[in-house]
Amino acid sequence: MVSRVIPVETFDLVIFGGTGDLARRKILPGLFRRFRAGQMPPGSRIIGAARSEMDDDGYRQMIREAIAEFGGDEKTDSDGIESFVAQLRYVAIDATGEGGWAQLAELMRGDVVRAFYFSVAPSLFGALAERLHAHGIADSESRIVVEKPFGRDLASAKALNATLAEHFDEQQIYRIDHYLGKETVQNLMAVRFGNVLFEPLWNSHYIDHIQITVAETVGVTGRGAYYDKSGAMRDMVQNHLMQLLCLIAMEPPSTYDADTVRDEKLKVIRALQAVEPHHIVRGQYDASAQGLSYREDAENPRSFTESFLAMKCHIANWRWATVPFYLRTGKRLKARSSEIAVVFKDLGHTIFEGDTARHRNILSIRLQPNEGMDLQVTIKEPGPGGMRLVDVPLDMSFAEALGPDQEAPDAYERLIMDVIRGNQTLFMRGDEVEAAWAWTDPIIEGWEARNDVPKLYDAGSAGPEDAMMLLHREGRRWRDIKG
Ligand code: BG6
Repeated sequence: MVSRVIPVETFDLVIFGGTGDLARRKILPGLFRRFRAGQMPPGSRIIGAARSEMDDDGYRQMIREAIAEFGGDEKTDSDGIESFVAQLRYVAIDATGEGGWAQLAELMRGDVVRAFYFSVAPSLFGALAERLHAHGIADSESRIVVEKPFGRDLASAKALNATLAEHFDEQQIYRIDHYLGKETVQNLMAVRFGNVLFEPLWNSHYIDHIQITVAETVGVTGRGAYYDKSGAMRDMVQNHLMQLLCLIAMEPPSTYDADTVRDEKLKVIRALQAVEPHHIVRGQYDASAQGLSYREDAENPRSFTESFLAMKCHIANWRWATVPFYLRTGKRLKARSSEIAVVFKDLGHTIFEGDTARHRNILSIRLQPNEGMDLQVTIKEPGPGGMRLVDVPLDMSFAEALGPDQEAPDAYERLIMDVIRGNQTLFMRGDEVEAAWAWTDPIIEGWEARNDVPKLYDAGSAGPEDAMMLLHREGRRWRDIKG
């Protein structure tokens, strides 16, 4: 199957923080892949803007090196790289002063899409937004892209939203959660709302519980200073896991339109009940033969920050009342594996005499690695000897089913192209982010008030023992974390 690439409109994309880690690691190599795929029209330009003094050629060389370091197979395409970097420009800019702004204003064109990627500390958002307007660089059609973390609690998220709202309408603001750009995450909506099969069963009558796991093998080496102030709750749960939960739990939107979809997601977040402290397990990885402990990685010997979280949540609405949602995420776990598992209820009655085993249908949606879906169904065990039942997977790997031509764009590539197209469906709206913090804040405040100490767990394990108990004591078990 051949993928269809539809070029976007010609654009000028300014990346503030254009020499930073995210720009070199993800944004520019991603844009190069879109360029090669024919999605970036030839007249488009990417303008790096940062503090360092550099000319266009210096920036082009920096991006050649970034593609060589962080690119995939495409990094051997030297002709492609040369054509791509020819579309790059650079402006040395002072985010909080006046240097460089007149130059940037002169560079921008009026007849193309203008987008501004704020790949900088949130404390600079206000200064950038103000100067973009003061110098007439942004207009009512321009778009700005902002990264997570979007605040560290409700008050700071509100303040950021207010700062941006002084200069831009909500329709111009693209808040990135890169999980929403992942292929399988969007497939969640296709599976739910594009098939007749699942939606009638998608409720508390048929579903026993839902598990959402985002397990990583990496630790916090090199980013301990940021992570130690965030922990798994702020870094992963408030945004990525929350978005997965929304897509799994939301009501069908009446259309696939940005605000209709986001209205439904918002209702899920607002219906989340407060989490009981004994329904949460916080963990911190210990030293092991493979690496240092969390505290050593974070360079904070007295840190109580969690590198693992498991929790049980409830959504108080008609569809989901009584169905627990178990969320789990952590660093230095046994495998890199992200999965959503929808565990259906047991049969109320079996007609197969002698079959004492418990059979369950489980729909698992694998986000990474090996994106795909797997539906566990019960069949007769082949061979003679009566009716013995066995559970087997109906497994569908998207790569196998759709063929190698379906090289999915990386999350960032897809999301940046959506910004240029003006499609906000896969971006968080301001009220969504605030609602997520409103749910998260009391949990974090509770830990702080109780001086909660995370449980140690072995690197390479599935997390602390207590996390197992969260399900065991209710007669359930976590799915295995498999890479
Ligand atoms: C980021 C977090 O948002 O997501 C990181 O800050 C985490 O801590 C990363 O490692 C995980 O993303 P992915 O795409 O590798 O699953």
